[in-house]
Amino acid sequence: MGVALVRDEPTMEGWFQSNVLSSIGWTLDKGNPLFDLASEYKKCVQQRIDVSSKTRLSAMTLFYEPSTRTRLSFESAAHKLGIRVLTVADAGASSSASKGETLEDMGKLLGSYADVVIIRHPELGAARRLSSTAQVPIINAGDGAGEHPTQALVDLFTLREAFGTLKGLKVGLCGDLLNGRTIHSLLRLLCAFGCEVTAISPPELAIPNEVLQRIPNRDAIHAESDLHTVLPSLDVLYMTRIQKERFYDIDVYERVKHSYRLERKDLEEASDHLRILHPLPRVDEVAPDVDQDSRALYFIQSANGVPVRMALLSAILGLQNRVHAG
Ligand code: NCD
Repeated sequence: MGVALVRDEPTMEGWFQSNVLSSIGWTLDKGNPLFDLASEYKKCVQQRIDVSSKTRLSAMTLFYEPSTRTRLSFESAAHKLGIRVLTVADAGASSSASKGETLEDMGKLLGSYADVVIIRHPELGAARRLSSTAQVPIINAGDGAGEHPTQALVDLFTLREAFGTLKGLKVGLCGDLLNGRTIHSLLRLLCAFGCEVTAISPPELAIPNEVLQRIPNRDAIHAESDLHTVLPSLDVLYMTRIQKERFYDIDVYERVKHSYRLERKDLEEASDHLRILHPLPRVDEVAPDVDQDSRALYFIQSANGVPVRMALLSAILGLQNRVHAG
């Protein structure tokens, strides 16, 4: 099987050497070339075709919060492209942050160590603060209850694969819409790309006003607290866990923690073409028996994290290896 690498993809220019801090302002013109490249990488990953280049570039993962999928999929993506990886897991304890060093000071140093930095941090705005002094692109892999823009790319890629188009899809976002950063990054893109969104949450966990206010066509979002009422009308159900670590008042958490639980029997009332997504990890909002249903897409969605992040790293670092397997 031959692999041809073709350089210079002008359509990727919007990503080159850019920070990825938020999904604000993203368009399909920006997303689609990335998704096309991700599709090609996905075929290569599945067929175990080596797409690594001889680049000497390096990527740093700087994680102050726990992560399985996001950190490992970024690192796996980098390895597959031949990018060297520096890992700072548990950065709050293992880096000079524990001595009181600011993100701004850390930002000034990072360009000497890596060509792109992927940060996860418990504080809203942390990635932006790091980027304010950094000389290299910063990727936000989750800033507190703020955003998680690369998860939104993975989610949209998964929907594009499943449905071909996003326009007109009826999408239910369910769970902790207040604290779920994946929701905040995804919601505005669903609205911008023509989906009809139902926000399913208890009133305490509704989408925050700061997020809603930045969505031009927010009137297209309907609020609902009962999952079963809307389930039959949905094309996509995006479940999220109740984010225990973000609650100031544990009594509120105790009150809402079991708000939703999707079980396989509930899917009898859902459409055949429903697709169920979840950024994972799950707690108890999706019962394990749902995994047996072909409409459950969350493990495929999770696996898509690797090719999507390969495409993103390629685009940011200018590797732009168009892969033609044949
Ligand atoms: C999410 C996150 O960290 O925001 N997970 C992920 O990155 N795939 C979702 C969550 O923690 O609930």
